[in-house]
Amino acid sequence: MDVEVYGKMLSTLPQDDDHPYRTGPWRPQSVEYDAASLDVVGELPDDLYGVYLRNTENPVHPAIVRYHPFDGDAMIHKVSFRDGQVSYRNRFVRTDGLLAEQEAGRSLWAGIAENPNVSTRPDGWGARGRMKDAASTDVVVHAGVAVASFWQCGDLYRLDPLTLDDLGKSTWGGSFPSRLGVSAHTKVDGHTGELLFFNYSTTAPYLHYGVVDAGNRLVHYVPIDLPGPRLPHDMAYTEHYAILNDMPLFWEPDLLARGLYASRFHPDLPSRLGVIPRRGAPGDIRWFEFEPTYVLHWTNAYELGDEIIVEGFFQGCPEPASAGPNGPKQKMFRFLAQDTMATRLHRWRMNLVTGAVSEEDLSASCTEFGTINAGFGGRPYRYNYAATNEPGWFLFNGLVKHDTLTGREEQYQFEPGVFCSEVGVAPRVGGTEEDDAYLVTLTVDMNRDLSECVVFRANDVGRGPIARAALPERIASGTHSCWAPGESIAGW
Ligand SMILES: [Fe+2]
Repeated sequence: MDVEVYGKMLSTLPQDDDHPYRTGPWRPQSVEYDAASLDVVGELPDDLYGVYLRNTENPVHPAIVRYHPFDGDAMIHKVSFRDGQVSYRNRFVRTDGLLAEQEAGRSLWAGIAENPNVSTRPDGWGARGRMKDAASTDVVVHAGVAVASFWQCGDLYRLDPLTLDDLGKSTWGGSFPSRLGVSAHTKVDGHTGELLFFNYSTTAPYLHYGVVDAGNRLVHYVPIDLPGPRLPHDMAYTEHYAILNDMPLFWEPDLLARGLYASRFHPDLPSRLGVIPRRGAPGDIRWFEFEPTYVLHWTNAYELGDEIIVEGFFQGCPEPASAGPNGPKQKMFRFLAQDTMATRLHRWRMNLVTGAVSEEDLSASCTEFGTINAGFGGRPYRYNYAATNEPGWFLFNGLVKHDTLTGREEQYQFEPGVFCSEVGVAPRVGGTEEDDAYLVTLTVDMNRDLSECVVFRANDVGRGPIARAALPERIASGTHSCWAPGESIAGW
């Protein structure tokens, strides 16, 4: 392995840190590396061609009062594969907030578990305001550029997907909705090259939906009527429709009126899915009601005859009392443990002609964070690859491949003390079958004090990794990722 240090971010975190989400598998890094030709154990296929990108909440300053892992600064890890060679880089996303805090040498904005009044800056980002846009939630590749985004809405930070060079923020030719920002979980439809997105707000209109075309121009942006402020985290799409949501877990209105932000589940209210033509007017949206729950992530959606079918993870317990006996004791971490939220793969069906709805569990397994072969996004598909969690923790200890046609599941469990991130699904060059692909993820191995990039065959998940390559340093645990095929990266 040929490793160079690119840079080091000033960190003021305490040496004797005891925060459950800044130590152990969540210990953040401060060094940025360039590593060529990682040493590979196993058989690295030469038809694996492209880039795996993963965002990471990687804080460099202690919170003003109380750190929540969703507040961490963005670090993008990039692993590229070509001709049987694998290389690695990591870079902080140099957000406006991070740069200001580096200059100050401390945190300037309140995090999600803090009262906005503790912010020392009067400005800020996010649906609730006075937060830092950390850009640390999600990463996609649109129009050949990697785009990092934040779950509370903010700017879209652009990076070269190969070099991770900073390409600045999205402006969309001056039409970027800067005041409201854009939420994480923008959706890239590989068939059209479009990026679909939403944002949300505590003031009306509470939701907007938009489309950016393959040339990175904003071509559609409409308000969506909602009964009040909501907390959508993800959206879905089919070939002709976008699917937005109004779930009954949202900031408590009475507290919101007093400037306090506490999420409450309302089991007396339905879950609602809104179906709107991809270029539809506000009045074109149709809402369908379902069992109350909260859905953090959808896996996919598609059209089948008159029906829209949406799949994602139903929460049996959207507002758990705690993170469970094995998790950290602080109540603010209870929404991080998918086992206590009892997440399971679920299917929602809506008939656009009759208005009929139905829904069903697809599995009893507790999984979340499912990814698919992106070539099947918005189209009929069969497989998703989701994560199991360490009880009580926001840590992934295994993978489950769901066959949504037969219900069959294939599982791989990492050894105790080894955790992975959301997998990237890398179609095999020349492959045509949906699961003729590789799965790529990054591990945190607490037993060997290192991190690896590991590769599975998507059609043989149970076999475990077929190749592994050690990174220069043990990285912090992280979540959302994407796979960019080599041919989608200009000049490579
Ligand atoms: Fe997410």
